[in-house]
Amino acid sequence: MTLTVKNTAKTFPDGTRALLPTDLTVGEGEILSLLGPSGCGKTTLLRIIAGLEQPDAGSRVFFGETDVTGLAVERRNVGMVFQSYALFPNMSVRANVGYGLKVRHVPKAERDRRVDEVLQLCRLADYADRPVQALSGGQQQRVALARAVAPRPKILLLDEPLSALDAALRDSLRDELAAMLRQFRITAVFVTHDQAEALAIADRIAVMSEGELQQVGAPEDLYHAPASAFVARFIGNAIPLTGERDNGALILKGGRLELAENSANKEVYVRAESIRLDPEGSLAGVVETAVFSGGHYRLAIRDVLSDGALLQAHHPGKTAPKSGDTVRLSISPSDLLYLSDQPSGPK
Ligand SMILES: Nc1ncnc2c1ncn2[C@@H]1O[C@H](COP(=O)(O)OP(=O)(O)O)[C@@H](O)[C@H]1O
Ligand SMILES: [Mg+2]
Repeated sequence: MTLTVKNTAKTFPDGTRALLPTDLTVGEGEILSLLGPSGCGKTTLLRIIAGLEQPDAGSRVFFGETDVTGLAVERRNVGMVFQSYALFPNMSVRANVGYGLKVRHVPKAERDRRVDEVLQLCRLADYADRPVQALSGGQQQRVALARAVAPRPKILLLDEPLSALDAALRDSLRDELAAMLRQFRITAVFVTHDQAEALAIADRIAVMSEGELQQVGAPEDLYHAPASAFVARFIGNAIPLTGERDNGALILKGGRLELAENSANKEVYVRAESIRLDPEGSLAGVVETAVFSGGHYRLAIRDVLSDGALLQAHHPGKTAPKSGDTVRLSISPSDLLYLSDQPSGPK
């Protein structure tokens, strides 16, 4: 089922413009992530899609070809998973997962069959008869997901479903969730403020800021070709290189960096993973800290940036320079991002 949002906006009675007019399409079976900082309007858009929030006049929401804008939440057949599991605590896993089927009067035999199937897919079969309080947070969130998908909703909506879990659990459940969502093949919208979650789970990401979509695209496209400085900062933590311009080059405290043509009016951004230790490099700096992080060292280097900030670099390798060492650095020209603060192309 395709999901289409057209010219959809939300102004709350107090005047807050939580969502500016927005167009968005989520393809059949696609997992789209709404990614943005707290307060940017993600939940508002999700609640409008669910039918929990009435959008401004002129807004339109379509499920497939059907205009559902005026349809109540219980008529839309959406599955929802929230940060809080909102499970029935005194009921078993099986009863929780079967609840939506029961209220829809699905016959018991069919209900049992579907519940078993979903429990299997969510790797909960071994816990089917336990009360949900007896499960860990991660297991409870899997029950919430199983409960949402058991009635075979047309659209699955997830609002920060991993946020309440502790960090270690969140990371492991993230990849599991991605795999489970793919198995269900349900068109899904996944809200998160965490770029790593969006990158791991989504087919496409819609980056939001202050009620507006900034850019919509595959994770790779957003990372390699961000449309704005906001997107580059938010996905992949790009940092600005500020300095004097001289004849197509940028003069930093640590040296000279040749820029691409036609970059005069653009800000220059780079990511830590694009900076290399290189004895022939045109930049120099002094290592402040070198922290071993498993696959690479995280270096913080002073005296490169003109504004006094430390330059972060990832250094693959088995050894790293020490604090106080002077190092030379290079940045591949193709790794520099030229951006303005407004999106440059069509969104
Ligand atoms: N019922 C409401 N009344 C007034 N303002 C609201 C209401 N709900 C949300 N907002 C505001 O709308 C903006 C977007 O909120 P929300 O969609 O919850 O953001 P997010 O989910 O991205 O954190 C915020 O400024 C928030 O304070
Ligand atoms: Mg929210």
